[in-house]
Amino acid sequence: MKHLSSQISKVLAGLLLAGFFFLFMVVDGLLKSNLQDQIIYDLRIEAEMADLYLSTDSVKLQEDVARLALLTESRFTVMDETGRVVAESDPAHRPEMLDNHLNRPEIQGALRGLDGYGYAFRYSHTLNEELVYVAFKSSKSRFVRIAKKQSFVNSIVWKVRWIVIVIALLTVAALLVLMPRLTGRVTKGLTEIVRASEEIRSGNYDREIVVKEQNEIGDLASTLNLMSSKLKEDIQQLRQMQDVRKDFVANASHELKTPITSIRGYLETLLDGAYHDEEVSKKFLERTMSNVVRLESIVNDMLDLSMLESRDHGLSLRYFDIGTMLKSLTSDYQEAARQKGLDLKLTSSIPPEFTLMADPYQVEKALFNLIDNAVKYTDSGSVTVSASLVEQSLHIVVADTGNGIPPEDQHRIFERFYRVDKGRSRQLGGSGLGLSIVKHVMEIHQGEVRLQSEIGKGSRFTLIFPAKT
Ligand SMILES: Nc1ncnc2c1ncn2[C@@H]1O[C@H](COP(=O)(O)OP(=O)(O)OP(=O)(O)O)[C@@H](O)[C@H]1O
Ligand SMILES: [Mg+2]
Repeated sequence: MKHLSSQISKVLAGLLLAGFFFLFMVVDGLLKSNLQDQIIYDLRIEAEMADLYLSTDSVKLQEDVARLALLTESRFTVMDETGRVVAESDPAHRPEMLDNHLNRPEIQGALRGLDGYGYAFRYSHTLNEELVYVAFKSSKSRFVRIAKKQSFVNSIVWKVRWIVIVIALLTVAALLVLMPRLTGRVTKGLTEIVRASEEIRSGNYDREIVVKEQNEIGDLASTLNLMSSKLKEDIQQLRQMQDVRKDFVANASHELKTPITSIRGYLETLLDGAYHDEEVSKKFLERTMSNVVRLESIVNDMLDLSMLESRDHGLSLRYFDIGTMLKSLTSDYQEAARQKGLDLKLTSSIPPEFTLMADPYQVEKALFNLIDNAVKYTDSGSVTVSASLVEQSLHIVVADTGNGIPPEDQHRIFERFYRVDKGRSRQLGGSGLGLSIVKHVMEIHQGEVRLQSEIGKGSRFTLIFPAKT
């Protein structure tokens, strides 16, 4: 893996080197031109002073230029007004051997320049070196020219160049050494995020990313933390759902097994010869029949539940007259209630024109289950069904004066196959699916079911259908 810190270091080192190069070029140029200006200025004074010193006598003049050249480590040339060389300090060149100097740029400069000076930088074939020439037009009808080697300018320039180069290299080296430590602080958070993400990927959803920085990296860390806790939640939910499913299969098989075992017993007994006895045969066949009816009702409940849980719930919504539905349901149960000596009443305060937007088949199933339970689990007293509008939402209450439900069971009775008193419920033909169907029906209608119950006093189930906007 490439490290971010080394990538940052490389970019910074590159930028720094580019910066130094630019600085180098600027300093170099400035230094050179300043030094040259200074030299020309110095040489001008030297030339003027030499003119004062130099004799006008031609023999003496040759001696003078030789002496001055020795003293100043420069080359002196004196020309007359026509450019003819009259004295030359360089012993290798006799003045009369030299050609006319009038067209040399420094002489032309001295002729044309207002202050009588001219200069030129030029390669001297005589000395095989870069020279700087400064000429002065004297009032003594002559030109005094002084020439100096440029190499000493170069040596100063090179000294400065070397200083800049060394500083640049030292800075870049220091940067490369120190950079990992500096960028380390920036990349520490990222490294932590990478490490934690790998742990989370391998299943450790409790791993929290600890980044204290308050910048984008910190934001990233807290977003990732949120994501992983969300993931953890989802996984837990998924596992829970798997558990519920497993339980359901186990419970369902168990519930189905009981009537099947009974049926098998009755049929075996009949086949073993009991069918010869008409009375016994009838009794066994009746019991077989009631077990088949029970199987049918369990399977129907399971089908209802699985449909309610399917994605589209198989709902068919429409407006219907809930008041009439309640009336017909309660009258269906009057006979069963009367047989148990129960008083089954219906009270309604909803206006007669009221219609409910819901799936009538599902709502009827839910109401049927509540009334069925109330009658089943109440031994004496009454069962009251009442309907009312509370702030435009429909409340349907099924209240009984039965045994009541223990507080610890109250939230569990809505689970599939859960029964408070298994023996009694089964004896009454229940499988524990009724209330879970009720709960599902209410959930898919965006409504809810509430329960109030007290042992010995009775239970009160309330269905709430939200107001349709
Ligand atoms: N009105 C009630 N009074 C007392 N206990 C109740 C009442 N309604 C339900 N219960 C308890 O809640 C349990 C679950 O009820 P649910 O309707 O889901 O199943 P069930 O009546 O046993 O069987 P099923 O409705 O499938 O025929 C019941 O077994 C019973 O113990
Ligand atoms: Mg029931």
